[in-house]
Amino acid sequence: MTGLRGRPLRGRFIHAPERGRIEALDDAILLTGADGAIEVLARPDDAAHADLAGRPDLVTLSAHRLVLPGFVDLHVHAPQYPQLGQALDVPLEVWLHKYTFPLEARYADLDFARSRYEVLVADLLASGTTTALYFATVHREASELLARICLDKGQRALVGKVAMDDPLACPANCRDASPEAAIAQTRAFIGAVRALPGNDRVLPVVTPRFIPSCTDAALAGLGALAAECGCHVQTHCSESDWAHGHALARYGMTDTAALDGFGLLTRRTVLAHSVFLTEADMATIVGRGTGIAHCALSNVYFGNAVFPLRRALERGLHVGLGTDVSGGPSASMFEACRSTVQVSRLLEEGVDPTDSRETRGTPDTRVDMLTAFHLATAGGGVALDLPIGLFRPGYQFDAMIVDPEAAGGSIRLFGETEPVAVLEKILYTASRPNIAAVYVSGERVVSTE
Ligand code: GUN
Ligand code: FE
Repeated sequence: MTGLRGRPLRGRFIHAPERGRIEALDDAILLTGADGAIEVLARPDDAAHADLAGRPDLVTLSAHRLVLPGFVDLHVHAPQYPQLGQALDVPLEVWLHKYTFPLEARYADLDFARSRYEVLVADLLASGTTTALYFATVHREASELLARICLDKGQRALVGKVAMDDPLACPANCRDASPEAAIAQTRAFIGAVRALPGNDRVLPVVTPRFIPSCTDAALAGLGALAAECGCHVQTHCSESDWAHGHALARYGMTDTAALDGFGLLTRRTVLAHSVFLTEADMATIVGRGTGIAHCALSNVYFGNAVFPLRRALERGLHVGLGTDVSGGPSASMFEACRSTVQVSRLLEEGVDPTDSRETRGTPDTRVDMLTAFHLATAGGGVALDLPIGLFRPGYQFDAMIVDPEAAGGSIRLFGETEPVAVLEKILYTASRPNIAAVYVSGERVVSTE
């Protein structure tokens, strides 16, 4: 792979260190080290700038191009990519059995798995997603194959073999044989991913699908395994009325409280959806440093309500964005940013025109596009506890080069140069042809020229 390790890159860099605010570094020079981390980010008035500008191997971007951090997608069901844009006509609990478990069962076949996973990982990289937190399937071998494909294609990835062992909730062809098998297969998967030759960017994840799919013995064993191996953890939490109600009926407590009791809420846990969190749940999550994958588009179909994103951010939860392929019918994090803003506006304004203006909405709940961008990049990095999503020394150089003038692209600038204006136009209107190149750890993983 060609790349920028050891070679200075000069141009306009835009990133979002905090919500609601971006930082534009114009005519800056960034140098990536041999390990893929940013070594120097020099502004024009920094002493290092003149030195780097004089180097013969300097790469200079054309004036209209700019560099953004790569997206961090905190929730992708890799095996569901073949049904993206399909099967959204029924509620979650029907959708799982009617469409999704039968599709996921097919990943016992490694040829089937390879042909689907290769397309997905290539498409996500070409869409600017440099890091993805993946659910694979119950199958250990196919899950290892996904990890290998991410490594081969250069994507930073966190991959989970899904644990789902409750015979009352999971079909026989898509189920761990027992709680012990769920734990043993997860343990073997962790070892195999960590041992992949040359693995500098793919991490294994302890992945109980969600409480309704798992026995208590599996949940407790996976919590203990997460503590033992120090892995990331991911699961679904309070996604819909049905899923939220399941835990209340089974344990007399919320799924957040139950997951905490099983040792599954850690600093390296990401909870998908979490639409119906109580104040006490939020306090628990903040106390554990656990992250949330906000899946705005998917929640339109399965969530039954809008996640109160701004309230969660004000309480101090670590939130990033997820596409939730295929519950969300788009694999693009640009779309995730757009739907995050849009659903927050619906929450603030309300949706029932027969209700009065005074009671229709939920005041002070909207977020802006710059906040969505922050969450899709730096916010994802914080949730994962990884040095990604920002242009800062010590952070990995994971980035996309955006070309607003790309032939076939959909961004139309009419002389704007001011960074907020340019960035908002990019976030609202970009499409894949506007992404000229993608880098992970300073290595080029996508190039359109
Ligand atoms: N809850 C349990 N499994 C799933 C899944 O595959 N997708 C979504 N959206 N929710 C889930
Ligand atoms: Fe999901």
